[in-house]
Amino acid sequence: MDLTVTQGESVAIVGPSGTGKTTLLNILNGLLQPDAGKLEVFGRDTATLGANGWARWRRNHIATVFQDANLIPTLSLGRNVAFRSALAGCPDVEGERAIMDALGIGRLMDRYPDEVSGGERQRGAIAAAFAMKPRLLLADEPTGSLDEASSQRVAELLFGGIRERQLTAVIATHNLEFARQCDRVLQLSGGRLRPVSDRDAPPT
Ligand SMILES: Nc1ncnc2c1ncn2[C@@H]1O[C@H](COP(=O)(O)OP(=O)(O)O)[C@@H](O)[C@H]1O
Ligand SMILES: [Mg+2]
Repeated sequence: MDLTVTQGESVAIVGPSGTGKTTLLNILNGLLQPDAGKLEVFGRDTATLGANGWARWRRNHIATVFQDANLIPTLSLGRNVAFRSALAGCPDVEGERAIMDALGIGRLMDRYPDEVSGGERQRGAIAAAFAMKPRLLLADEPTGSLDEASSQRVAELLFGGIRERQLTAVIATHNLEFARQCDRVLQLSGGRLRPVSDRDAPPT
């Protein structure tokens, strides 16, 4: 598999269950190590960063939104967001408040993850991801555990936020309609990535 993502570009990875979307994303966020091959992030071979250097880089610069369970259950939504940005070294109380307001969860700052709906929890996870001002945003089926209406709303806020911030993003999704909101859509199957249409072919 070969994948190059340009800075500021958003790429959607589509494909049926079990084809390796999560494995790919977890290699990109450092949860898994590839058996072979090379991962370069913003021009640096991650193998040369050393384990600690790569861990620090991820903590500061890579945000991952999972399908669910992205938040610390014993912290309120507001504190989850603050914790994430503090870890990344960019705490900013007003900025975090503005992000949560824009995602429609400002009034839920003091609620705990199990006191809000699934869609609100995902918006909390997205707020935490945006608040760390990531250089790379990864999302694995970010709407996968939500009903139709919440999915639409969460996708709108996620893709809107990515565009607004011109984030470099890689997003795995089953939903081709959501995928189309990214600059490029790639289908993963048989261990290969292929553009879904000519429009999605990489720039030459
Ligand atoms: N930790 C693991 N160890 C071994 N095989 C795994 C592991 N995680 C996933 N797999 C297998 O790797 C393949 C790809 O899984 P996954 O990346 O989760 O696919 P997707 O996210 O596209 O559904 C599947 O066949 C899955 O069973
Ligand atoms: Mg998966």
